[in-house]
Order: sequence, then C-alpha cells, then structure tokens
Amino acid sequence: MSSSLCHADLSAVVAAMPKVELHVHVEGSMRPETFLRLVRKHHLDLGVHTEAEVRELFRFRDFAHFLDLYERCTAAIREPDDISLITYELGLRAHGQNVRYLEATYSPGPRYRGRGIPYDEQLDALSRAADRVLADTGVRMRFVLDHVRGEPLDECFEVAAMCVAGARTGAVVGLGLGGFEPGRPASLFAEAIRYATANGVAFVPHAGEAVGPEGIWDCLEFGPARIGHGIRAAEDPDLLAVLRDRRIPLEVCPTSNLCTGTVRDLREHPLRRLWEAGVPVTVNTDDPSMFHTDLTDEHRLAVAHFGFSVAELAEMTLAGADSALLPEPDRHDLGRRLRAELAEFRVSAH
Ligand code: ADE
Ligand code: ZN
Repeated sequence: MSSSLCHADLSAVVAAMPKVELHVHVEGSMRPETFLRLVRKHHLDLGVHTEAEVRELFRFRDFAHFLDLYERCTAAIREPDDISLITYELGLRAHGQNVRYLEATYSPGPRYRGRGIPYDEQLDALSRAADRVLADTGVRMRFVLDHVRGEPLDECFEVAAMCVAGARTGAVVGLGLGGFEPGRPASLFAEAIRYATANGVAFVPHAGEAVGPEGIWDCLEFGPARIGHGIRAAEDPDLLAVLRDRRIPLEVCPTSNLCTGTVRDLREHPLRRLWEAGVPVTVNTDDPSMFHTDLTDEHRLAVAHFGFSVAELAEMTLAGADSALLPEPDRHDLGRRLRAELAEFRVSAH
C-alpha cells in the first residue's frame, strides 16, 4: 500500500480497517427506526413520530439532560424480543464496520424494575442475539452488565448475580457502573462489586466522566479491568502514571463527551494527551444512535482531529484486543488475527 494517502483514500482505509469495540450500550445503539417501531408496537406516546423528530430529540443540553432522555427513550424496550432485536441490530452494524469483536454494555435493572422482565429472561434474550450475530456475521459479542449508579445497592447485587450467571456460559464478561456519577462513588457498591469479581467477572465501571479524577481513584481498589471514559484522568499526573503502569485501558468516546457536554469543545478533549502519557486508550461510540455516530466515524475523528496515524490507530485496536475480556486462548487468537489483518494497513497517514 502506498505511504501517502489523500483524505478520501484515508477515510476509506479507516472504514476498511478491522476494529474492536469495547464500550457501546445496547440501548443507546437502538436505531431511530427501531425506536419508532417499538413506540408503535407498545402504543407509547413519547411525542415523536418520524426519524427526523427522533434525531432532533437526541440533542442534549448537558449530562443530566442526556441521562433523563436516555431513561425515557429506553423505556420503549419492554419485552425480551425487543432486547434481542436491538442487540442483533447492533451486531449487524458492527459487522458492517469491520468490527471483529464487540463488548456491549447493557443495563438490566431498568427492564426489571420498570417492566418486570426477569433477569434470566434478559440474559437469554442477549445470548440468543449474540448467537445469531455470530452465526450470521462471524462477529463475536460479549456483554458487560451495568448497574445504574442512582439505583440502590440491592439492584447492584441483582445485576452482579446476573453477571455471575452469565459468566458461566461465557456470554457476560463484566460488571459495569453507569448513570449519574456525582455523589455515587463505586465504593457505595463495594460488596456487590467484590461478589462479582470474586466469581470471575471483571469490573469495568464508567468513571472520570461526569466527575474528576477522584471518580477513577475510587474505582482502583476494586482492580478495574478497564475504565469507561476516564478522560478526567488527564487532570492528574499521578493517576496517569498509575493507569499507565498498571496497564488499565480507558474506553474513550470523544463524540459522546462532546454531545453530553463532558467537554465543551473537541479541542479540549484529552485523547491525544492520554495516549502520549502512555495510558492504553481505545476509541468507542458509547451510544451511537443518540450521538449520531458510529465506530468508523470515531476512528476517522481520531485521525482527522486528534492526529492519529493509521499505524497508531492499528496499535490502538491491538491494545483493545489485548484488553478484551476473553479467556486467554481466545484473546490470543483475536490479537493474532487482528495483527495479521492490520499488517496490511501499516501506512503513514501524513
Ligand atoms: N449510560 C449510557 N451512556 C452513558 C454514559 N455516557 N455515562 C453514564 N451512563 C451511561
Ligand atoms: Zn457508556
């Protein structure tokens, strides 16, 4: 492959590269069409009737506004078949972007609390969809189950128990923490987190997104496998050194951070600084439908805005594969396959 590429070629190269996604919410990936389909199916009135209106709805004033709308819109997911449908569609779209491995986050608590869908039925719905994705596309999909921080400790135990049950079949690999971070540190959920990690489930919290570095420090005692977002680590050199030395990757989601007001401007976004500090970073979508993005767009942004070369992007993808929460032989296979595919793309982007 030639060593200098024009913008259009570069964009096509980024699209063609094999990818790994480690931070994408099943619910936040629900396509506007599918959202409207569920709204109609369940005779809901959420005040939106067209795809354009849905897209307009997904404009957020700030982080709290985003979470409020997220809760209202994901309430359209009311049955196990809905869960399977959006999970399957997420897998199909990942395949279309050359994603080879996908860890998707899903929050079972609201579906149990709001709709009474038993946790085992939710697990079954996710697993069925992942099996179909694998059969139809070859994309391997695993799940991180998120506890919503604003909800009580009891619910976190229920989610942790679902993680442990799901880990037995290999479908679930992690326990996450999502939702509103301020005033809800990970330490509040210490017992449930320890129960999950003692039973072979990795801890992968959102942290350092809506609060500063203290949100990440608070998670470290639980040995997190990765941190969701974690961008506020950039404010604390001691924390950066810990993340670098312990090889704790950050799942960075630049467009999400812009859309939720976590950063005011992409020029302020610390992705490049985190990388240069030697912290393992990956690029992800978070809630692609709500933030009008996809993984290829996030990778293009990494190149066009943050100045990553194609070779650096390939390195980032390999770091993502290294932090996949798979049993060692499977992680090794994934890395080997990606390394071979990415060898084709090691060109200079400048
Ligand atoms: N749930 C879905 N997206 C989220 C985010 N970016 N932060 C916290 N919780 C979330
Ligand atoms: Zn997230």
